[in-house]
Amino acid sequence: MRILVTGGAGFVGSSLATLFKRDWPKAEVVALDNLKRRGSELILARLRQAGVTFVHGDVRVAYDLASVGGFDVMLECSAEPSVQAGYDGTPSYLIDSNLIGAVNCLEAARRHKAAMVFLSSSRVYPMKALRDIPLKVSGERLVVPPGARGLGWSDRGIAADFPLTGARSLYGATKLAAELLIEEYRALYGLIAIVNRCGVLTGPWQMGKVDQGVFVLWAARHLFGGSLTYIGYGGVGRQVRDFLHVEDLYDLIKLQLDRPADWNDRPYNVGGGPALSLSLAELTRECRNRAGRDIEIASDPVDRPYDVPYYVTDTGVVTDRSGWAPKWQTAEVLDDIFDWLRRHQDELRPVLAA
Ligand SMILES: NC(=O)c1ccc[n+]([C@@H]2O[C@H](COP(=O)([O-])OP(=O)(O)OC[C@H]3O[C@@H](n4cnc5c(N)ncnc54)[C@H](O)[C@@H]3O)[C@@H](O)[C@H]2O)c1
Repeated sequence: MRILVTGGAGFVGSSLATLFKRDWPKAEVVALDNLKRRGSELILARLRQAGVTFVHGDVRVAYDLASVGGFDVMLECSAEPSVQAGYDGTPSYLIDSNLIGAVNCLEAARRHKAAMVFLSSSRVYPMKALRDIPLKVSGERLVVPPGARGLGWSDRGIAADFPLTGARSLYGATKLAAELLIEEYRALYGLIAIVNRCGVLTGPWQMGKVDQGVFVLWAARHLFGGSLTYIGYGGVGRQVRDFLHVEDLYDLIKLQLDRPADWNDRPYNVGGGPALSLSLAELTRECRNRAGRDIEIASDPVDRPYDVPYYVTDTGVVTDRSGWAPKWQTAEVLDDIFDWLRRHQDELRPVLAA
């Protein structure tokens, strides 16, 4: 068994790579990464200690993937994962890595008759349609009123049949375009592929920054110092996201890979669901308690064009089909992140504080 993890020095890729190696010690697990993400270089020691082979390579370069040789499973975790990417007028890196890179990965998986797991995103859902969901203020957060529902959404969250018409961010567009290509590779070439549209994923080794990895960013700034801002929706932190510990994602992928053909049919929404969701204001309280200090949080009430006030995953289809449900609860996820930040503070502070 040979497993190739693209983006294997990133947060999700390295977490999956080390967990697969832990559970299948005889498998060769190869992590390919171009180390574009700041902080990915810190993860190389983690891979080495776990017995994962690191290959410095770029998914934009088909030759780099070919040089890895054959494999049985590909976990496609490489990406420019920021929803803000391209808004500065330079979309090339995003499109080349996320879309051309995905094509190169598809070709490599086809050549080696390997199964593929593709990390797609909740960002495939259009922003306007998400913003049009009627929300109410409840304490420190926005909520879908109990019992309210519409096409693809309810108080259980956003389901995979949510409408797809409308702009979704360049990042989301690259993910959806890759999903469409995967569908064609399945139909034309018999590719076996599992597509998980993930909400926010978090846990240790996420190099949180303003535009991606907000739970770790919030925790790190409370611990190490640095600035934070409530952006949009009145600037008071009522926007809500659900979150999933990366080990719960691993458990699901492991289960899916036991019978990949059973999951080779449609995209699956994967996330923490309503029980694992926090507003930024609620997250501040949790971080303040764990860090033992209060930091000043600036307020900018103006909404950003790529932002949405609320995203919570409806995981009903995945749970009904497999029995999978997140094991990590809110307090455990945050404790795990704080524990990691404290243990590795000397190396993490320069990356995560600002
Ligand atoms: N973290 C989340 O909340 C989340 C949510 C939904 C989907 N996803 C998806 O999961 C996957 C992993 O995300 P992550 O959170 O680990 O991000 P990450 O930035 O930590 O990891 C991505 C890795 O890909 C590498 N990379 C970037 N461009 C590359 C290229 N051209 N060639 C090779 N490597 C390249 C980076 O150096 C980085 O190590 C991505 O596809 C992302 O879109 C993540």
